[in-house]
Amino acid sequence: MSDPIFQPLTFRNLTVKNRIFRSNVSGRFDNYDGSGTQTRINWEVKFARGGVGAIISSFVPVTIRGRIMPNYATIDTDARIPFWRKLGTQVHKHDCKYILQLSHSGRQRDVPGIEYDKGLSSTNKKDPLHGFECERMTVEQIQETVEAFAEGARRAREAGLDGVELHGANGYLITQFLSSAINDRTDEYGGTLKNRARFLLDIVRAIRAKVGRDFHLQVKISVTDHNDAFSRTAGAGNTIRDTRKVCQMLEAEGVDAIHASTGSFFPHPKNPAGEFPIEELVKTYDTLISSGLLTLRNFLLLRGRVTGKLFTRRWDRARGDFDKIQGMNLPDARKIKQSVGIPVLCTGGFQDAPVIRKALERGSCDAVSIARPLIANNDLVKMFASGVDSPPVPCTYCNKCLANAPENPLGCYEESRFGSREEMVHEIMTVFDPPPFR
Ligand SMILES: Cc1cc2nc3c(=O)[nH]c(=O)nc-3n(C[C@H](O)[C@H](O)[C@H](O)COP(=O)(O)O)c2cc1C
Ligand code: SF4
Repeated sequence: MSDPIFQPLTFRNLTVKNRIFRSNVSGRFDNYDGSGTQTRINWEVKFARGGVGAIISSFVPVTIRGRIMPNYATIDTDARIPFWRKLGTQVHKHDCKYILQLSHSGRQRDVPGIEYDKGLSSTNKKDPLHGFECERMTVEQIQETVEAFAEGARRAREAGLDGVELHGANGYLITQFLSSAINDRTDEYGGTLKNRARFLLDIVRAIRAKVGRDFHLQVKISVTDHNDAFSRTAGAGNTIRDTRKVCQMLEAEGVDAIHASTGSFFPHPKNPAGEFPIEELVKTYDTLISSGLLTLRNFLLLRGRVTGKLFTRRWDRARGDFDKIQGMNLPDARKIKQSVGIPVLCTGGFQDAPVIRKALERGSCDAVSIARPLIANNDLVKMFASGVDSPPVPCTYCNKCLANAPENPLGCYEESRFGSREEMVHEIMTVFDPPPFR
């Protein structure tokens, strides 16, 4: 086939059969203690069966303190290796690669759980959206966390997975170091771009020292912070100019690919770009009320008829044109691609084959990663392969999946895509088949 979507992509240490990666999607599928379950395996196999070349996992915490919420499978001890091995084996049966996203939340923790009170961060300032509190990491804590990332990479390798991705995007701990709008340190981990990138580069070096050069290592990074999306006084944060330099440093340290994302916090009007799902949020945001100093205020604002509308309007304004959601990060990805020699993946709204083909043919990126349109249509890639360029019942970018994720099983919650609410619920619940206990 001459279709660029179906050309294999060869990285230094890994070949993927086509140019579509399932992007990271977190859901509360596992046990409270971080041990994985059959439900997560069922979830991932849906996408492998649907034809994606590789799956990039959801947020996998390298320490318990670094999780966003309980019930996410972690990689913080060797006891987790057999679960990930089992998951990888199931995914591999469909000729699909599996890349594990090594992650640390820093201060951006939706539900911290019982083990730790405050999150760790580059700063001791609370996050401005929810008011999640944190403490500034000491150099010793930084070193321990660097080691935790390296141990996570070793465990992923021992589990037979195909590579790891460092979650350096979307406002989590690595962003909290990289971003000029968040990092207010005065030591060697703050100030200049080189200093702010030190934490990430230390992690890359520690991983390379532990697993060698022949294990795939990619970094997801927010190319542009857009930190001032809600408040002009907040500071814009990192720009493409900054991130180009960081990516060049990463390439020099032996990183194999860059995954281009956007935004210094998550969710952000530009990520995942779409509607502000206010009706769903009113039902689910209560899960976060006890987590942050501003969460009760936010909940009341969301519930208020006038304030809810104002919030939605601000979100829409910060997002920009709804028609430009598909491929929204391509201009950023293209600039990164022009600055490095390693492959660049791009995330953000991809759903139609012609758009993806054009991006690949123009050389804006080497592959695309897809989250929501694959949640909506798990078999999107098989559709493309059969000559269908656009899914008949597309993802509407309503973001209801995202709003439900803290409280309900991950899945597509756009009722208009289904014959009935019962049909929608039935589809969501298929993730429990086969069941975790038999
Ligand atoms: C429900 C949901 C969960 C997500 N979880 C993660 C995550 O764990 N790690 C991550 O890097 N990005 C996460 N993202 C962001 C996606 O990977 C993706 O980059 C973003 O949604 C834009 O792609 P899309 O337009 O194809 O959805 C999540 C997005 C959604 C909608
Ligand atoms: S709920 Fe469904 S249609 Fe809405 S953004 Fe998520 S996957 Fe797309």
